[in-house]
Amino acid sequence: MIVMVGNGKGGVGKSRVAIHLAALAVTAGVDTVLLDTDVIQGSSASWSRIRNDEGITPPVPVMVLPANPLRELVNLSQKYDLVVVDIGAQNYKTMTECAAVSDLVLVPCGNDQQEMEATEIVFKHLDAIGPQHRNGKVPAHVVLTRVSTNERAKSTQELREVFESMGMPVLQTVLPMRSAWAATGKTGRALHELRGKDKSERATAEMQALFDEVQQLCNEG
Ligand SMILES: Nc1ncnc2c1ncn2[C@@H]1O[C@H](COP(=O)(O)OP(=O)(O)OP(=O)(O)O)[C@@H](O)[C@H]1O
Ligand SMILES: [Mg+2]
Repeated sequence: MIVMVGNGKGGVGKSRVAIHLAALAVTAGVDTVLLDTDVIQGSSASWSRIRNDEGITPPVPVMVLPANPLRELVNLSQKYDLVVVDIGAQNYKTMTECAAVSDLVLVPCGNDQQEMEATEIVFKHLDAIGPQHRNGKVPAHVVLTRVSTNERAKSTQELREVFESMGMPVLQTVLPMRSAWAATGKTGRALHELRGKDKSERATAEMQALFDEVQQLCNEG
């Protein structure tokens, strides 16, 4: 199974989502590898380094971009039950190549005009390569990230409706703005592993719900 997380826009939450899908899968006993294709920033690789240095268990295997990501991705998908791919911003070539062989593509986006425009562009690229995908269409969904913590916020509802009206499916689960996400980067821990004042039960439950929804979509596909 290959789950790719990408958006042309930077800072939308791609790496955090990818890291957490991998960490939760490993914790659930799924044989998983996280492929970091962001050679410039390598946020997933950085998180993994901190995690290893701190000796946090279970280890989450992370690989950085190989010379031929597509071939490596296909090889990895035969070795592991799950490959999570974190795509760097602006890396459309790797994004579309990897999307064509992915079982699920997630496109994180916040409540921001430029992020919304970038997300639309991503879906246009994915539509264009749809015929190369074995389903004839890339199974892509928007993930609303860093949205209001008010579950009933009109702004989040409107954002969902805009995407859905354009034929872009949006995951039911959203990831509201929570400070615990910053702590995960600093500590090499996943949300559910944070301690003391860093810990957020809400953020942990939200990410777990996202993981469950992703698992369900993978099982359906
Ligand atoms: N739900 C959230 N609540 C609060 N902060 C968040 C949330 N999701 C992500 N962030 C923060 O947003 C920043 C960017 O996140 P992340 O590195 O995952 O984005 P990215 O899309 O991978 O960025 P880049 O394009 O630079 O690779 C980080 O500081 C992260 O802590
Ligand atoms: Mg990133």
